[in-house]
Amino acid sequence: MSGWWLRLALFSFVAWVRPVAAGTCNPAITLFSTDGTPAHNYDSLVESLGAGNCVLFSSGKKIKLVKDLGGKESSRVFGVGRNRAIKIAKTKEAIPLLNEILEGYHEIKALAPTVAIFPDQSLSGEYIWEEELIPHHLIGRLVGLDDFNSSHFPPNQIPFTLLATELVKFARKAFRVAHFGDQGSAQIHFTNRGWVVTDYRRGHLVAKSAWDLIPFQRQYVPATGAACGGALSRLIYDVSEIGGQRMLIVPDELETAVRLSVLEQRIEFFGGLRTRNLDLQSPLFPR
Ligand SMILES: Nc1ncnc2c1ncn2[C@@H]1O[C@H](COP(=O)(O)OP(=O)(O)OP(=O)(O)O)[C@@H](O)[C@H]1O
Ligand SMILES: [Mg+2]
Repeated sequence: MSGWWLRLALFSFVAWVRPVAAGTCNPAITLFSTDGTPAHNYDSLVESLGAGNCVLFSSGKKIKLVKDLGGKESSRVFGVGRNRAIKIAKTKEAIPLLNEILEGYHEIKALAPTVAIFPDQSLSGEYIWEEELIPHHLIGRLVGLDDFNSSHFPPNQIPFTLLATELVKFARKAFRVAHFGDQGSAQIHFTNRGWVVTDYRRGHLVAKSAWDLIPFQRQYVPATGAACGGALSRLIYDVSEIGGQRMLIVPDELETAVRLSVLEQRIEFFGGLRTRNLDLQSPLFPR
């Protein structure tokens, strides 16, 4: 092929390929300028974002938003494909809160099942790159602990049993947490890998003794298992005085749904509990 034909073929190929490649993420909505400053109309831009939009960050990275996963007060979360999601601040004012998530991640993930985030792929002050949480196949949607505490789940049905059993497992794994940053029941969700902390800030507190408040103790989640008279929270943790000594009581794993006969408020299940002193120096409750 002569040089002329070769150039023509190359030009045609580039002209054909370029719009296709660029078209996958064009036009992009600029959320941050190259020096990291948020757009002057950042808040309204973020409010208008939806699936199919492309967003441009200060690094020059363009990200296509594949699905809108949620967002309430301070953030919006979008699926970006391949089981990954990005979380961005809803307003300029909320940007520091987004940074707190990155800063508090390593600590919280060592204490409780937590949404996986990828700090190296995140851009501090702009977005967090994280796993897309997948609903459990029997439930079909993510359920917040706040939602579970309300009355949508009749206690005699499989979803309730499943969520309750898994909540006990979660609470047992997270028993070291006395308080996590921005703690609240809307920050914990049921997913295909059980209950996980999905949202938090910095400033987690580790329990130092059995006198410390524990998030899943019934005082903190008074409505947990409201449908069963609060008995479920009793299954999660209890703190009692035994022989003048304060003890943390953690139930053994629930073996079958029968165990949830406690839903009928029969407390004889307590007979099956393991009681131990809360000694945080030793691994009392192996994971
Ligand atoms: N990684 C994720 N994968 C799938 N869905 C998610 C993910 N993170 C959050 N969500 C969904 O988005 C909703 C809001 O998320 P999140 O709690 O992080 O934001 P927020 O409520 O705006 O923050 P804040 O608690 O500060 O008000 C959640 O209730 C959940 O349904
Ligand atoms: Mg939240």
